[in-house]
Amino acid sequence: MAGLTRRRMLGGAAAATGGLLSSKAEARSPDPLITELQDWASQTGDGVDATPYGLPIEYERDVIRRNVPWLTADTISSVNFTPIHALDGTITPQGCAFERHHSGAIALRKQDYRLLINGLVENPIVLTYGDIERFPRETHVYFCECAANTGMEWAGAQLNGVQFTHGMLHNMEYTGVPLRVLLAEAGADMSDQNWLYIEGADASSNGRSLPMAKALDDCLVAFKANGEALRKEHGYPVRLVVPGWEGNLWVKWLRRIEVVAEAVESREETSKYTDLLANGTARKWSWVMDAKAVITSPSPQAPIFHGYGPLVISGLAWSGHGRITRVDVSLDGGVSWEIARLGYRGSDKALTRFYHDIHWNGNEMLLQARAIDETGYVQPTKSQLRAVRGENSIYHNNGVQTWYVDSQGVVENVEIT
Ligand code: MTE
Repeated sequence: MAGLTRRRMLGGAAAATGGLLSSKAEARSPDPLITELQDWASQTGDGVDATPYGLPIEYERDVIRRNVPWLTADTISSVNFTPIHALDGTITPQGCAFERHHSGAIALRKQDYRLLINGLVENPIVLTYGDIERFPRETHVYFCECAANTGMEWAGAQLNGVQFTHGMLHNMEYTGVPLRVLLAEAGADMSDQNWLYIEGADASSNGRSLPMAKALDDCLVAFKANGEALRKEHGYPVRLVVPGWEGNLWVKWLRRIEVVAEAVESREETSKYTDLLANGTARKWSWVMDAKAVITSPSPQAPIFHGYGPLVISGLAWSGHGRITRVDVSLDGGVSWEIARLGYRGSDKALTRFYHDIHWNGNEMLLQARAIDETGYVQPTKSQLRAVRGENSIYHNNGVQTWYVDSQGVVENVEIT
């Protein structure tokens, strides 16, 4: 694929037009948008009470979560995907942040909310929503990535859109109480070898075992996201935030935390969320989401419409091990790399936006991005990943993604072999 495509690139489209964003004003016919009085300037607009809680303007109505109907039997135990091809910056608005639930999103009123902390504790406690709000709180931005993100791509390029290949991902500013504060309140036995068993209030409960060390480190019992209440689908009124670790541990509608001496080995950490290796054994406790980057534009849902000249290549990078320190971009399928510009300095376990500004002359491209995090870890190619993990996996696919761009700017999901 790479050899073939590079040959095609040599015979690619003609040279660029010179990279001007627009031709000179006098060379064009008069533009009525400049010369004529428009409706919106000659009439008044909507009053301030027309949208007491606003939605995006109708012209943006295609920037929405989407699902892949054939992926799951129904929409109750299912997933939809964040439209990352159409977003910029790093914060994901809650209204289009992917949802993943196992028994549907439940409506739980604050007054009906209770959190039980029991097990190896001196004082088992039941907290109301109001109680949780009275503990000292913190605010942090973190990404949440489902372990199954990019899972359909293990067998080769499948889904023609970054929303579907990489959109089980969101990044929000969470406000909540550090889990260690609530454990201290219950007089939990915080010995290092202990675990927590965490459950949600939904029918699935999504029970997961969490090692004590992670609980004491940076987990948050969160009740706000991006400044406002969590949305129903993200666990209203309270969810667990487990920074850098797979989304399945971020238990929504948080109901019970039991301090236990051993991991429970629940369904969600045995038959699911383990990684089947080539030799038939399964790897478990693969909690951390390794460093990953992807170009969100251009991408199959965001082709190049504007013709030759200046082109902004943009994407996202993240690492469950900490901060993104560098992102490399390749235009030729990984033969050569250039260092991308970071939107701003990467922050701990949060999405980092990167940009790479080029002058596109219509040449075909094989676009790739690779992330490097503060531990020095370099995102692997898909072949490197398969060499270690085999081909049976679903979860934890952080191999380098390739987009093929043709001379017309149309983009396709491909894999370099
Ligand atoms: N918590 C409960 N109670 N029930 C669930 O089904 N799904 C988990 C996790 N927490 C789930 C849950 C999975 S698999 C993921 S990836 C994240 O929630 C998704 O969080 P989101 O729906 O806010 O994107």
